[in-house]
Amino acid sequence: MDWVGDFYSRTGQWWGEAESGVGARDRRRVEAVHARLGSEPKRVLELGCGYGNTAAAFAEAGHTVTAVELTDRAEYAAAHAERLGAERLRIVRGDFYETAFEDRFDVVAYWNGFGVGTDADQRRLLSRIAAEWLAPGGTAMVDVFNPLVWAAWDGDVDVLHADPERGYRHELSQRLRFDPVSCTAVDTWTDTADPEREISQRLRCYSPADLRLLLEGTGLALSAVVVGGETLDLGADHAGNAALLRERHEYLAVLTA
Ligand SMILES: C[S@@+](CC[C@H](N)C(=O)[O-])C[C@H]1O[C@@H](n2cnc3c(N)ncnc32)[C@H](O)[C@@H]1O
Repeated sequence: MDWVGDFYSRTGQWWGEAESGVGARDRRRVEAVHARLGSEPKRVLELGCGYGNTAAAFAEAGHTVTAVELTDRAEYAAAHAERLGAERLRIVRGDFYETAFEDRFDVVAYWNGFGVGTDADQRRLLSRIAAEWLAPGGTAMVDVFNPLVWAAWDGDVDVLHADPERGYRHELSQRLRFDPVSCTAVDTWTDTADPEREISQRLRCYSPADLRLLLEGTGLALSAVVVGGETLDLGADHAGNAALLRERHEYLAVLTA
């Protein structure tokens, strides 16, 4: 996992200026939790919070939020905490594999980040969620990368042009590969002004069936899968399901102890 700090710090420097505000995606995440668990104030732990936008949206909705971030993206998150007050939003800069919290949480969320490292790393994280962080009756909400859509993107190359007025100051190129043996997406970025320096993130993807296997022995079970806002009936036949086959690169796993 030695690429993690450099990758998210560097990409944060490219995108933070443009993307460090609370937006529609953050409010949709709050709505997804409210729809499932109700909107009464909750204690929320967010893992890998990036710029802290979603953590801020939860705090704005009345929840008490602790959010952890490894990289200097946490500086943007700290600005949200300053605006909202430390008693509503606490930012912890650190590695969630190492960090300990005195509190327990009604909701543990990991948006758009699960799948870094090996299966054993994933299990270690899931076990910590179950044993150390979730309060009795609590729920974990974890975005999981969908292998079928990432595999279909194998070979795609794109150039993202700079747009300084919106805060995007670098022209970037992206190349996507998919390793079908390890079921891992390899997402490689280059600043076209510095083409020798490539950075890649490697994201282990799990189908819902594989996630169920991964969860065995962690203390968590899959209680729902939400794809594009729709909750799947886990007992039904999903042959031909277009959202998971072609459309959605991640789905939300709802996990309970
Ligand atoms: C793809 S970004 C998603 C950020 C945010 N959750 C969102 O949806 O916009 C994943 C984030 O997780 C953070 N992260 C990865 N591993 C981490 C770790 N071990 N401890 C804390 N943060 C971590 C990264 O630095 C990065 O900011």
